Order: sequence, then structure tokens, then C-alpha cells
Amino acid sequence: MKTDVVREEFTVLVVDDEAAFRNSVRRILHKESLALLEAADGEEALSLLARARVHIALVDIHMPALGGLELLDRIRKEFPLVKVIMVTGLGDTASVVRAMKAGAVDFLEKESIAEAIGTRISQAHRIWELERDNLELRRKVASEFEFTRLVGESPPLARLKEIICQVGATDVSVLVEGETGTGKELVARAIHHQSERRGKPFVVVDCGAISETLIESELFGHVKGAYTGAHASDEGLFMAAGGGTVFLDEIGEMPMSLQVKLLRVLQEREVRPVGSPRSLRIDIRVVAATNKRLEEQVRRGSFREDLFYRIAVVTLAVPPLRERVDDIPLLINHMLAKFGRETPRVSGIDPQTLNLLERHSWPGNVRELENVLRRALVLSRGPFLKPEDLPDDFGSEKGSATEASAPAPANDSLAAYEKTAIMSALERSGGSRRQAARLLGIAEATLYRKLKLYGIE
Ligand SMILES: Nc1ncnc2c1ncn2[C@@H]1O[C@H](COP(=O)(O)OP(=O)(O)OP(=O)(O)O)[C@@H](O)[C@H]1O
Ligand SMILES: [Mg+2]
Repeated sequence: MKTDVVREEFTVLVVDDEAAFRNSVRRILHKESLALLEAADGEEALSLLARARVHIALVDIHMPALGGLELLDRIRKEFPLVKVIMVTGLGDTASVVRAMKAGAVDFLEKESIAEAIGTRISQAHRIWELERDNLELRRKVASEFEFTRLVGESPPLARLKEIICQVGATDVSVLVEGETGTGKELVARAIHHQSERRGKPFVVVDCGAISETLIESELFGHVKGAYTGAHASDEGLFMAAGGGTVFLDEIGEMPMSLQVKLLRVLQEREVRPVGSPRSLRIDIRVVAATNKRLEEQVRRGSFREDLFYRIAVVTLAVPPLRERVDDIPLLINHMLAKFGRETPRVSGIDPQTLNLLERHSWPGNVRELENVLRRALVLSRGPFLKPEDLPDDFGSEKGSATEASAPAPANDSLAAYEKTAIMSALERSGGSRRQAARLLGIAEATLYRKLKLYGIE
């Protein structure tokens, strides 16, 4: 029998050579929302198990060829996640005992199956749903944590994190300033995450990307028929963010006409959808970002001063990467762990390459570093990223760096690279072990252990 299975549906497999029994199981379970697979013998069961994710297998103990207990054994070994319920003869205590000992989760007597099977299966179904929901929740929390993970321990970044915690606790508007790729959006998300609004939406509005004619309805919503093409009403992003944070990215790109309207919205805490006679109350916190000096724009007259003061109650400056070189090894570790899963042949970076990366000026900041590493991971033959794996424009810096950096290790063993990396870090930290440990992205205690191991003074 061939059945195609929809993934992530609760799936039960019934294995018995008697078609009459399989039919009666199907009749009893037809109301449960589950997928039912059938197999007429053990071999067919195993081949189905290899193709479909089965949650419960209902196995008759008496079958010709591959018997039920043997099948149970194979399932336990080859498909350990599948739970097996053994179907036994009436009063066959000896078989029941053997099946339970061999790892069946439960047993049912064939003669009384009609009464028992419905409740057993729906119980198992409910438990499976709970486990699945739990898993999804854990995954979501983990990825949210990832989102707001601002990697870096350099003094400027440590200060930034401190301020994020402070302003996160308040509800004031924040302006995040910084060059492209410095992590402004990550900072905005971290502020949201630190605030009481963390469980509510974080809505991103790219002020530079929405057309001037549409931006008003995009932000504040519109009623049906408000303009040509408005076939249905729309609540707009500010309403959609209800109780949460609106991130106004590239705020400096916002057209003058809209700046006036935004100011009124922020003052009155109300929006009026396009075409609507009524205003609606909103509950949002605004975090804005710009990669230009917004004050400069105010002086030049392209950004309203009153709006500037309303938004920039607190201004956070995200430092460019070249001003926090100490963070580069930490970021590299973080990124290798993040992107490196698909390239397990690469286990780290060699000291010369690190040296080149630390000397680069990084006009594109952390995003540029991400791109350089992604590319290097693809090109690298492993186990360590080499200068050749970097883009050509690192070439001009290569010559000088090679002379200045620690000599390449005499052989290719991991220990040799580790020792070289430690020496080079100590050299760069001027002998400070704490600083060197940071550069290497390891704990100070680990560094001490390794110094002893390699006999480095
Ligand atoms: N401190 C950090 N730790 C880890 N990842 C970071 C850090 N800073 C930035 N990144 C990563 O670098 C990339 C760019 O960050 P982000 O999008 O926040 O920058 P941005 O300042 O908003 O850039 P742009 O001005 O171009 O929009 C993202 O993939 C982000 O995850
Ligand atoms: Mg951005």
C-alpha cells in the first residue's frame, strides 16, 4: 500500500497481516485528525518508517515472517523516536511482559481494541502536540535571543550596551546614529527587547524605501475607497505595532510633508487613517535610525527641528568598527559559529588573516565583515581561513601584514597554530594576559592553562 505522508501531522502506522483488523482500526480512528498508514508485514512497515515520520506504530505481535517482537526490536534500534504499542492476544501475559521489556510503550488486547484504542491514541496525540508546541516556543525564544545579541566587549560597545539597558527601561524616543552596517537595527531591537514592550510587535518602517505618495497610508492606514486602488481598508503600520515599538529606519529620508504629520501623531498619540474623519489612539514607542548627522540636516533645513527634538530625546551613537578593533575577534568567533555550520571543514582563522582583518578600515562596518567571512568560508579549504581567502582589496595590506605578524607555524598541527595565535595575541596586547585572552575569544583561565601547556613565559 502506498500512502504519501504530510509532514508534521500526527502519524499512526498500523502493522498487521489481517486486512480486517487494519480496516477496523481505520474505522475507529477516522474521526481523529491524524494520518494513518498501513503495512501488511514487518518489511513493508520498515520501508514506510524509512520514508515517513511516524509517531506511533501499532504492531500485531502475531505475524508470519518478521514477527511482532522482532519488528519491535528493529524499530527500537533503527527508529528510536517511534513509540510502539503492541497488539496482543487475550490474556497473553507472557508476550505482554516480553514486549514491554523490549521497549513497547503500551499494549492493547486485540479482542477489546475497539474500546481502548480511541482514548490511547488521542492521549498520545495530545502529548505529541504539547511537545511540538514546546519545541516551537523554545526555538522562537532562542532566535529572538540571537536577534538581540550584540557581540562585543570593547569599551565603546560596553558603554553602548549599558545605555541600551537604561533607555530600554524607559519609554522615551531614541535616535540611533551610526555609519552603515554598524548594527543600528540590532541596537533598536535590543532596546525593544529590554523594554516592557518586548512581547509586542517590533515594526520596521524603511522611510527611504516607501514612495512619498504611499507612505502616509502605509504608516497611518486608510479607509476603503480613500484613493484609487484602496479596495479595502488597512490599519497601517502604527496601529499594527499596537503596544510595541516602531523602528523608523533612515528617518533622514522622510519627506518634509510627512515630517509635519509624523510630528502631530507623536504629539497627540493619535493617527487619522487616510480618508477617515476619525482619529484613533495609538500606543507605540518610536526608535529611529539614521546614518547621516540629523542635526546637520536640521541646520541645512531639510529636517524639521521640532521633530528632531521629539525623536532624539536620547541619541545613541553606534561606533564604527574601526574604533573597536578589540571586538573583531569576538565578532569573528560569533560569525564562524553562525555561518560555519555549513562549512564544517573550517574550524578557525589563522593569525595572519586575523591580523589583516584587524588592520582593515571597514567602511561597511560589521556587515562588511560578515560578507568577507561568508565569502572566505566558501573559498577556504580549511581548517583555517587564510589571507588568500580574503577579497583582493585586502591585497595591498597583505605585504606589510605578513612581515609584521607572527611567523607562520613550522608545521600544520592545530597545537602549532594555537601556540602561534597565543604568541601573536600577547604581542599585540603588550603582554597583558587579560587583553590577549579577549583577543583570542577565550577565558583568561583557559589562556593560563594553555600558556603552561606550551611552556610560554
Ligand atoms: N555587535 C554586533 N554583533 C553581532 N552582529 C552584528 C553586530 N552589529 C551588527 N551586526 C550584524 O551586522 C549586520 C548589519 O547590522 P544592521 O543591519 O543592524 O546595521 P545598520 O546599522 O542598520 O546598517 P544600515 O545603515 O546599512 O541599515 C547584521 O547582519 C547584524 O546582525
Ligand atoms: Mg539598517
